[in-house]
Amino acid sequence: MKTLNPFPTIEYISPEYFCDRESELKYIVESIDNQRNITIVSRRRLGKTALIRHSFYQLRKRKDLSLHYFDIYATRNLHDFINVLSTALVGYFESKPEKVLSQIIKLLGQFRPKLSFDELSGAPSVELSLQSEAETEQSLAAIFDYLSKQKQRVVIAIDEFQQITNYPEKNVEALLRTHIQGNNNVTMIYSGSNRHMLVSLFNEYARPFYQSTGFLFLDKINPGQYKEFILKHFKKAGREISQNALLLILDWAQGHTYFVQEICNRLYSSGFTNIDTAEVKQITFRILEERTPLYQVYNNVLTVSQYALLKAIAMETLLEKPNASSFIAKYKLGGASSVNRSLVALEAKDLVLFENNSYSLTDIFLMRWLQRQ
Ligand SMILES: Nc1ncnc2c1ncn2[C@@H]1O[C@H](COP(=O)(O)OP(=O)(O)OP(=O)(O)O)[C@@H](O)[C@H]1O
Ligand SMILES: [Mg+2]
Repeated sequence: MKTLNPFPTIEYISPEYFCDRESELKYIVESIDNQRNITIVSRRRLGKTALIRHSFYQLRKRKDLSLHYFDIYATRNLHDFINVLSTALVGYFESKPEKVLSQIIKLLGQFRPKLSFDELSGAPSVELSLQSEAETEQSLAAIFDYLSKQKQRVVIAIDEFQQITNYPEKNVEALLRTHIQGNNNVTMIYSGSNRHMLVSLFNEYARPFYQSTGFLFLDKINPGQYKEFILKHFKKAGREISQNALLLILDWAQGHTYFVQEICNRLYSSGFTNIDTAEVKQITFRILEERTPLYQVYNNVLTVSQYALLKAIAMETLLEKPNASSFIAKYKLGGASSVNRSLVALEAKDLVLFENNSYSLTDIFLMRWLQRQ
């Protein structure tokens, strides 16, 4: 059997390769069991999708639940949304392919569904041909009507939910709300990384989704637990890793899930049997070398002041007061108003984020790379 690298950097594998998140899991299960919708929010790559996958994995044997996950990151309008939703529902019947077609025809026949199967994975996908706004609404109504009649309780996780705010159709929120919220049999899990957009979607009085969900603001994994998890997997493979090496990994990656995973994945694949800080440094150096061509581009695509500010924030790691004269003078950033303009631009480009009262770079590797320049 091919052995897996125990540190996945893209997909969720199984509980064996998933660290902690016990209390978050409990919160999600409790919300589902009590028909409460929830919204999971965190900065990018911290583990939202994996947490949903993990929860569904734990719940997969529950006969009273039917669990559906879909990601709307790539959808541009309501029509796309409905196609992705139908595909997710069909995917649920994947183990019973003969059922797929009949279900689809019964449910969405009037919308001329086209069913196809992915050549590589064999996964089914559905495309409806919706020819008017009225048809779009009717298909949505048909899907949720179908869900409300299921014997099992339906749980639908929609990843990257803030995407709906970019749809060009009018009243998307109101329409979705009517069908989603008005459905006793369906519990929703929304998830996304645009904190500002998600919070206003659910927390502004005048908006249709106002106070319709609880929130789970995902934080970094507890460092103690993470160290144990990493140690366990190296030990299991007959390798040793020192406490100092573990500390260095977590510090260098700022305890941020994806970046920790990436370093551990590389350390594991490098074949080192005895890992100390020197080995970690070698790997982190290699990662930054590899990314140099990507990172060099910023020097050209950003203005001089934006690049200077990006570098200055990187040097500080966490920056509380971008307008402080000491900070501006230290990095020769000109005036406060120029700093403010650059800050807005860097945030809009998702290069910098404001979290827990301070600014930092979203990409920890880019931060480390800039610190070395
Ligand atoms: N608790 C965990 N233990 C181990 N690995 C994890 C954990 N949480 C997430 N990961 C891994 O970290 C990587 C990033 O996680 P994930 O894709 O779930 O983040 P995300 O918050 O959904 O990111 P994005 O904002 O880009 O959608 C994945 O490879 C995932 O498997
Ligand atoms: Mg995700």
